[in-house]
Amino acid sequence: MTAPPLTAAVPPGELLLSLESVVKDFGRTRAVDGISLTVGPGEIIAMVGPSGCGKSTTLRMVAGLERPDSGRVRLAGRYVAGPDAWVPAERRGVGLVFQDHALFPHLTVENNVGFGLPRRSPTRTARIREVLDLVSMAPLAGRYPHELSGGEQQRVALARALAPGPPIVLLDEAFSSLDRGLRAQIRTDTVAILRHTGTAAILITHDRDEALATGDRVVIMRGGRIEQDATPDEAFHHPATRFVATFVGDAVLLPAERDAGMLYSEIAEMITPSGIGHGEVELVARPHEVTLDAGGPGKAEVVALEFQGAFVLYTLTLQSGITLRSLQPHEVRLDLGAKVSVGLAPGITPSILVDGVRPR
Ligand SMILES: Nc1ncnc2c1ncn2[C@@H]1O[C@H](COP(=O)(O)OP(=O)(O)OP(=O)(O)O)[C@@H](O)[C@H]1O
Ligand SMILES: [Mg+2]
Repeated sequence: MTAPPLTAAVPPGELLLSLESVVKDFGRTRAVDGISLTVGPGEIIAMVGPSGCGKSTTLRMVAGLERPDSGRVRLAGRYVAGPDAWVPAERRGVGLVFQDHALFPHLTVENNVGFGLPRRSPTRTARIREVLDLVSMAPLAGRYPHELSGGEQQRVALARALAPGPPIVLLDEAFSSLDRGLRAQIRTDTVAILRHTGTAAILITHDRDEALATGDRVVIMRGGRIEQDATPDEAFHHPATRFVATFVGDAVLLPAERDAGMLYSEIAEMITPSGIGHGEVELVARPHEVTLDAGGPGKAEVVALEFQGAFVLYTLTLQSGITLRSLQPHEVRLDLGAKVSVGLAPGITPSILVDGVRPR
């Protein structure tokens, strides 16, 4: 007889989940290096970072599939991991949708979804129907996994995770096996379902656009640590570090100089965006912020162009030899070798970095 899962409502004012200085080593590898992170009820967190930076290990510690070497994990008002606490995975009441968490091939869709529900519960059948309806899979309830498309399998996996009514679902690269168009669709549907049911989620993805589009917050990890934990808007427009600046979007870091409240760079001069300061900085120049003017005596040269449908991405070499990129509507037609003047779009307040970090 196993104890019931921890699906009780979160006490008012409590965070749903908090990780407190969590560390995990595998032999000599420090996979997670002192992570602190919180998730509120119903909040959707997107977690991104390079391969091997500790994303899955972090999620596995939340799920109860790995035990932290130090630090603590608190879930729904109680400690589930720590020096004097341990609640095993099956009693945490957390939903899991992992890429390698395949459906059971010998069970029908219906029985896959019912797998985590008590056998004799009088509401079992109704609950299975309810979650299958939620993911629009009720008509295929009697099929076996091999009779489903990749997208349909993913929906069933989500239904299975949601069936016991967990307060949080953990998704590790859940959509990455799907092709691009389907992935966007399933992702949108999944987020809508999570919102509808008020379920919180941590969603690991390799896709920065997916992270920015999906998360209430985006957590950018690197080398077992969190580089930035912020809203997508904040991470994109005010990156905390050089790494984040280039990880969350295309950017060139342009040398610039701060002096007496002004910022001077090869492509623009402006009032310094972050207060008084003096000396060398880097200006984060994103392609959509870089303007081109082919009308005047330009000193930059178009060295490459990439057709992207509605837009064309131009690569330019400045007089200093620095390479920049500029995203232009497809109506702008410039040939390779064209001479242009380059600037920053009016009204743009670019981010600057001092010694690789955002100045305070
Ligand atoms: N069971 C394990 N035994 C030994 N080392 C491990 C184990 N699991 C993970 N690691 C190591 O810990 C580090 C973090 O791994 P983790 O799987 O958390 O990375 P990740 O961010 O999920 O990467 P990816 O994007 O490739 O999935 C890596 O260096 C990995 O090799
Ligand atoms: Mg992983």
